[in-house]
Formats: sequence, C-alpha cells, structure tokens
Amino acid sequence: MDKFVIEGGRRLYGSVRAQSAKNSVLPLLAACILTEDEVTIREAPPITDVGCMAQILRELGAEVRFSGEDVTVSSAGAGEHRISSALTKELRSSVFMLGSLLARFKRAAIAYPGGCDIGLRPIDLHLSALARLGVKIEEREGYIFCTCDRLEGAEIVLDFPSVGATENILLSAVLAKGRTVLSGAAKEPEIVDLQNFLNAMGANIRGAGTDTVVIDGVRSLHGTTYLPVKDRIEAGTYLIACAAAGGEIEVEGVKAEHLGLLLHKLRENSCKIHAKNDKIRITSAGRLRCNRKIETLPFPGFPTDLQAQMVALNCVADGCALVVENLFETRFKYVPELKKMGADIEINGRSAVVRGVEKLHGATLVCKDLRGGAALVLAALAAEGPSEIVGLSHVDRGYADFDGKLKKLGAKIARVRA
Ligand code: UD1
Repeated sequence: MDKFVIEGGRRLYGSVRAQSAKNSVLPLLAACILTEDEVTIREAPPITDVGCMAQILRELGAEVRFSGEDVTVSSAGAGEHRISSALTKELRSSVFMLGSLLARFKRAAIAYPGGCDIGLRPIDLHLSALARLGVKIEEREGYIFCTCDRLEGAEIVLDFPSVGATENILLSAVLAKGRTVLSGAAKEPEIVDLQNFLNAMGANIRGAGTDTVVIDGVRSLHGTTYLPVKDRIEAGTYLIACAAAGGEIEVEGVKAEHLGLLLHKLRENSCKIHAKNDKIRITSAGRLRCNRKIETLPFPGFPTDLQAQMVALNCVADGCALVVENLFETRFKYVPELKKMGADIEINGRSAVVRGVEKLHGATLVCKDLRGGAALVLAALAAEGPSEIVGLSHVDRGYADFDGKLKKLGAKIARVRA
C-alpha cells in the first residue's frame, strides 16, 4: 500500500504530455473481441483499469500482449461469454463487453458492474437499447444473461445521453443486420474515437459527436492498429494543478475544443490560457478568483470528471463558488478530506458552496474515488506544509505515473510504501 508524500507550496513549470484517454482505450479494448484478427491499440496508458480490461479479455479466451505501451489483442481463440463477478466488480467498463460479446457470440453474461462509488450507476439504458436490437435479457443470481438469435438494426432513442449506453449500442449494432439509428446519443470525443476505431476495422458508422448516430451493420470486422484520442480529463487535471499551485505549464497532445468549458472557467479564475496546435499553455499568477458557478453536464458541458479538481482549486481562490453535480448522486465524497485541510465547503444534496480561503494546510488524506483522489493531490500541491495521501489504488485506475509527471513539473511529491 503506497502513499503520496507531498510538500505543498511549489509552483509548477514545464511541459507534460497527455496519455491516451482512459475512457477511449477501455471501450476500444472491449471492441477487440469483435474480430478474430489481431488488433493493436497504441500508447495504452499503464493504468490499472487497462490491466483489468486485459484480464477480462484473457478470461474470455483472448490473447493480450503488451509491448511497451502498445497492447495487441488476438481474440481468434476467444469462446467464453461469461465474465466472473470478481472482474466485473473491479471495473465498470466491463459492461461494454455486453455489446461486443453479443455481436460476436450472440450471448453474454456479466455480473452487475462496479467502478467508482459515485452514485447508483444503473445500466437500464444499456439493457433497453440491447432489447431493441433483439436481445433477450434475464437477471438472476446477480448476473445479467443476454442472448439473441441475431442482432437486428433498430431505431433507438436514449432518454439521457449516457456515454456507456451509446458505446454499447455502437459495439452491438456494428455487426447487426441492417441499419440502427440512435437518437439522443452522447457526444463525448471518446464516442467519436470509438466510431473512428470501428470504421478502421471495416464498420460503417457515421454521426458520432452529434446526437444522431447511424450504424449500418457489416458482416465482419478486421484487424487494425490505432492510436486513441488523448485524455482530456488527465490533461485538464494538470491544467487545474497549475492553476491552483501557480506557475506556467504546457500540456501537449490534447485538443482545446475537447476542454472548451474548462478553459473558459480557468480564464474566469483569471488564469491566462493559450491554445495552439494541440498544446495548451496556462499561466497562473497571484490569487485566483472563484468561479461563480460550475455545473456538470454531458459533453460539451462541464465534465463531471473534472468537478472535484475544480472544487479543490476554488478552495484557495478568492470569493464563493457554487458547484452543481448533475450526473452522479454521490460525487462529493472527497469533500470531508478537503475540510481536514481547512477548506470551507458546504454540501447540500447535489450542490456544493465553496468559500475560498487564503491558504489550505497540509493533512493526512484518504482517496475515496479516482477523480476525488486527484483533487486531494491538487489541494495538497497548493497547500502550505506536508500532506500524506493514502488510497492510491483509486488514482492508479486513471493516471499513469501521476507523481512522476508532477515531479517533472517541479512538484515535491514522492510515492512511498505506507
Ligand atoms: C462515463 C465515463 C465516466 C464519466 C461519465 C459521465 C467511461 C469508462 N466512464 O461513465 O468517467 O464520469 O461517462 O461523463 O467512459 N445512467 C442511467 N442508466 C444507464 C446508464 C447511465 O441512469 O443505463 C445514468 C448514470 O447513473 C449517471 C448518468 O446516467 O447518472 C451518466 O452516466 P453515463 O454517461 O452512462 O456514464 P458512464 O458511461 O458510466
């Protein structure tokens, strides 16, 4: 069990390169089972969620090889269609396997998926969409059993633009007979990336990134080598770290249009932002201003995955911020930890009122989930004095070499055995 030991109060300078997007690589790995050919995903970040997805693929009979950060999946030998509950509980993205297993084998069985404990996270939208494609669904003994004679294209309307449900529909409808028209789709960049990846495998999908996606089913898919989109959430986390701690850094690889609202909010904090050619530079000097209001929404709204980090930033800014979490029910679990550092935050249901204080002080902190854990690290970097942070398994799920990258930017952070 490792912990971070952080000496706060250092400004950040230098440049950092964004990793491939976790939320892209995970559905891409699930898609590998759609073909018997070899598929290579380049620069997959060495995070535990990727390792866990590789384990799931192996359990299904696929061969998964890592070469540096490239991962090659060969699922010619895959035949198993049931994922053990131990693995499904580890990783919410195991739910994507429903779509791809049904497309390849016409059957799938998974236990109810796990992932970060940030709310109820039901999968009713996934299941009703699969039912529209002709899937019979039975739930018993904690497992969801899905079968079909064949998948048939259909018109599907999502009541809410769920990212995972949209991806599951692409993964299943890609090999269905006929056309699927999905309305009310999620528009996240990772969905565009999944469309591009599947099309590189021979699929016929268009419209991703808008709210209507049209999937013309094809008979089979072939292998490919693919470089995923960069991680806008990881990139955003480093930008917010610099905003909170002060300094000037450049984040490379990420597209500014994927972080539109974050950049707007950081400017509102009085940071200087300069974005050009997939590079974003931020300068943060002096005391920042609080944001008036941050409200999480599906893309292109403010990402829920950057909500905790922005709360940490507002804790040390001047003024008062209202932060509304619209996507997940219990995504403020990190707040009591920030309060240990002297933060002034009041929670009322899905809203937080953050009153900025002059300084946070170092403390011993516990990560409760992935992005909340990142927020604690950011707060500790901006605080006065030393902090210790445990529960790093949460941040390891999504940030490759978090401490190494921060150290390169001049942070005083060490990862030590607890
Ligand atoms: C994905 C991301 C996660 C991000 C989230 C929202 C991955 C691997 N994870 O999660 O990092 O925080 O999008 O941007 O890409 N919902 C239902 N029924 C369903 C499905 C979802 O009610 O069948 C609800 C959820 O409980 C939640 C909301 O819809 O309140 C958003 O969920 P969704 O967009 O599906 O998020 P995930 O795909 O789980």
